[in-house]
Amino acid sequence: MSALAGRVALVTGGSRGIGGAVALALAEDGATVAIAYRRDEDAARKTVAAMAELGVEARAYQASVDVPDDCDRLAADVASDLGRLDILVHSAGIASRGNSVADTDPAEVARLMNVHAIGPHHLTRVLLPLLRAADRADVIFVSSVITGVYPPFSAPYAMGKAAMEALAHTLAKEERAHGTHVNIVAPGLVDTEMGQRLVRATMGVEDIREQDALSPYGHVCSPEEVASVVRFLVSDAASYVTDQRLVVDGGTF
Ligand SMILES: NC(=O)c1ccc[n+]([C@@H]2O[C@H](COP(=O)([O-])OP(=O)(O)OC[C@H]3O[C@@H](n4cnc5c(N)ncnc54)[C@H](OP(=O)(O)O)[C@@H]3O)[C@@H](O)[C@H]2O)c1
Repeated sequence: MSALAGRVALVTGGSRGIGGAVALALAEDGATVAIAYRRDEDAARKTVAAMAELGVEARAYQASVDVPDDCDRLAADVASDLGRLDILVHSAGIASRGNSVADTDPAEVARLMNVHAIGPHHLTRVLLPLLRAADRADVIFVSSVITGVYPPFSAPYAMGKAAMEALAHTLAKEERAHGTHVNIVAPGLVDTEMGQRLVRATMGVEDIREQDALSPYGHVCSPEEVASVVRFLVSDAASYVTDQRLVVDGGTF
């Protein structure tokens, strides 16, 4: 019997990158998986096809987490199409532009706060009736090592992730009585399109592979290495774990 058979998961940003790897990992464990993506329909279609090949039910929904109407529609579609929700993974995310506070447009701050914190707050809220109906529910927030480090030129992203973690910690305490586990996974640099853009913008490195030799264990963290931590947190093995922040950075910070 697959570990997650009978459970339904929704992964935002599940079309590619870390969210894509999480979606596949949960599907491998037997969950029915819905993914939400913003605009890359092709990537979403490929990830759904890869999950369907594993023999599970898989669906993709276009929904921007920073648009409340999209979140409402997504919640209604998950309820009517899948009938339940046991696992919610917030992985949708964007990077900020790398400017100083002095040079940052307030609209960028609002955008990052919306994608990383205000949107996940709203989406979680509208999905709570489904999550509370499950015997055990899990909510995972994919944050970043940036909280606690706060490097310069990162304020919009760091603010978004700090607010996301505040949401996670408060939600964990509020929803424990409903059988819900809420945890944060905080990766360092991960080999995704965002990671690739990050090393180009902040280190002037064209190919993320150049970072392998400088990274813990001789390689940049893969999306699958983050996904396996999510897989653990939503499993029976983590039945007494909630309100935790698990760092996945090879011990860098
Ligand atoms: N990569 C890293 O080094 C790293 C490190 C620490 C933390 N993280 C965090 O990990 C998460 C995943 O990052 P990643 O590296 O996998 O990024 P990625 O490869 O760029 O993928 C981003 C995913 O998020 C979706 N997305 C972006 N904005 C969205 C929105 N407004 N609504 C719905 N979906 C949206 C994208 O969908 P479309 O393709 O349709 O736009 C895509 O599926 C993010 O929260 C990021 O902050 C990443």
